Amino acid sequence: MLLKEYVEFTVSEFSEADLHYGHGTGTALDDAVYLIYVTLGLEFDQDFRESNRTLSESEISLLNQRVEQRVSERRPVAYIVGEAWFCGQPYTIDERALIPRSPIAELIQQRFAPLLQSTPGRILDLCCGSGCIGIACALEFEAAKVDLVDLSSKCLELAKINMRRHGTFDRVRAVRSDLFSNLSGQRYDLVVSNPPYVSEQEVDSLPEEFRHEPRMGLVSGEEGLAIPLKIL
Ligand SMILES: C[S@@+](CC[C@H](N)C(=O)[O-])C[C@H]1O[C@@H](n2cnc3c(N)ncnc32)[C@H](O)[C@@H]1O
Repeated sequence: MLLKEYVEFTVSEFSEADLHYGHGTGTALDDAVYLIYVTLGLEFDQDFRESNRTLSESEISLLNQRVEQRVSERRPVAYIVGEAWFCGQPYTIDERALIPRSPIAELIQQRFAPLLQSTPGRILDLCCGSGCIGIACALEFEAAKVDLVDLSSKCLELAKINMRRHGTFDRVRAVRSDLFSNLSGQRYDLVVSNPPYVSEQEVDSLPEEFRHEPRMGLVSGEEGLAIPLKIL
């Protein structure tokens, strides 16, 4: 089977299964290309010339397993392949943290203009999850020191993997804290946060894909505003 035929097959499987998209992809085609290209170790934005190549039996067998997981378990592709993209960079991801997808990426790429008047020396990423926002800030502001803060030690383990992956270990540190509780005396030029903001009631009505994500990354009290209001 040719790679492009496998993409067509996967799109039709995904469409028939009526999956939910929104964990880094927007359509069945995006989702299929992401799963297939990352699994095969191909650059999905550059390697379309590969689409006429014949897949080996072992490649098809691995892809079949992954397509099956996506359809029957509704597991988002980022968790299946262990990678998500944020601000143009890859991040290691698994069920310990929410899949990176915050629109804060655009603010980072614009260096927070016009909100920020000067280059920040110290940055706080509060509720950091995989660390994607804080690490992307560290990559954008090359001299900044960044604190990644989360209450979940599992998220901080993953954030440390991503700090290492992006060579930011000397300027970025991971701190376990319930919001600001372990940060007394610290001052920052920029505080960035993508906190949980889903209500208890709403979370159970979300598509099944969200059940693979840590509840603590989504739910924020009865109305969804408990944590954002505490931060403000
Ligand atoms: C919506 S996720 C965002 C993760 C990451 N910033 C991103 O954009 O992908 C919210 C994060 O807040 C963390 N969190 C929840 N309650 C917290 C608290 N009281 N203090 C610190 N972090 C908390 C969760 O563990 C989760 O990683």
